[in-house]
Amino acid sequence: MNEERLFTRRNPWFVWSVGSTLAVAIVAILIGFVWLPSASSAFGDLSLWARICGAAGVPSSWYSGNETSHVPSDVVVLPPSDTSHAMADAIGRGATIATQHCSMCHGVLGTVQVTAPALAGQYADVTYKELRDFQSGQRQSAVMQAIIAGRSDQDLHDLAVYYASLPLPAAAEKTRAGEGPDATATRLVMQGDPQRNIAQCAACHGQLDRKGAAPWLGGQSAAYLAAQLQAFASGARRNDINEQMRNVARQMTPEEIDAVARYYAAMQ
Ligand code: HEC
Ligand code: HEC
Repeated sequence: MNEERLFTRRNPWFVWSVGSTLAVAIVAILIGFVWLPSASSAFGDLSLWARICGAAGVPSSWYSGNETSHVPSDVVVLPPSDTSHAMADAIGRGATIATQHCSMCHGVLGTVQVTAPALAGQYADVTYKELRDFQSGQRQSAVMQAIIAGRSDQDLHDLAVYYASLPLPAAAEKTRAGEGPDATATRLVMQGDPQRNIAQCAACHGQLDRKGAAPWLGGQSAAYLAAQLQAFASGARRNDINEQMRNVARQMTPEEIDAVARYYAAMQ
């Protein structure tokens, strides 16, 4: 066995290997952060520091607090939480309004018309937000805007908690016997398509996770779902906060829209 100590400055092998590793690292940093960004037209005539930050993927200046931000299409509004007694009253009031004014189209157990979405079991924040958006005109619908125009904020809240208290409807459409869910649709729903900036639907719509006021989509008809996706894609519907649905729908082909619409229509 060699008794000499390995990690000492007197060992030329050690000095050389550490020295050359450092030299390679320094040259690589200079090439990656200074030379390549300077040679690339993507960085234009930015300062050296801005180029280094750009290559490292970090902002070269931080938020200073006096920039004006975009006004979002609306804020997420959660109906105020209530005591269970007040909640039962609210559900009761919502049921009364719904039976007289909404059930002929939206049903209690599911949809009555293919074009009217099912509301039973929908998250209360979704129903409340959509009703507010119809009222303010953020979301346009010849039918719904007129129906909801004169309603008080309390009515909208009561309707939202009433529908949320109902059980989710059964799947709106059945897949043909022996036919599993479409592979394209399953991939988009569970994995998305990162290269085209399509995040997985399930990350927002409740199967894996839930973000913003994203609706539960199971139980809706394929016709309604496809129509909404087309409306987001064309920009006819633009009440989604920060364009989160428009950005997804714009990237999708008509075939993909039909496939995911059928996927969700067959889901509970
Ligand atoms: C004449 C039929 C009709 C009646 C009555 C009606 N709706 Fe609608 N509702 C529709 C249609 C059609 C849509 C889809 C609008 C669209 O295409 O954007 C809709 C959409 C909605 C949505 C959006 C749901 C979603 O998933 O985005 C909500 C919430 C809603 N209605 C609540 C109500 C409430 C509450 C009432 C009663 C006060 C009511 N509707 C009465 C036809 C109706
Ligand atoms: C970043 C989160 C996010 C992702 C990813 C996402 N959605 Fe959405 N989606 C939303 C939100 C939020 C809304 C509600 C918009 C609003 O009205 O405020 C919505 C609304 C919808 C609606 C309208 C439902 C109704 O009842 O009005 C459909 C249909 C829909 N999304 C389908 C999809 C499909 C299909 C995918 C995957 C290809 C997807 N979404 C991916 C957040 C998302």
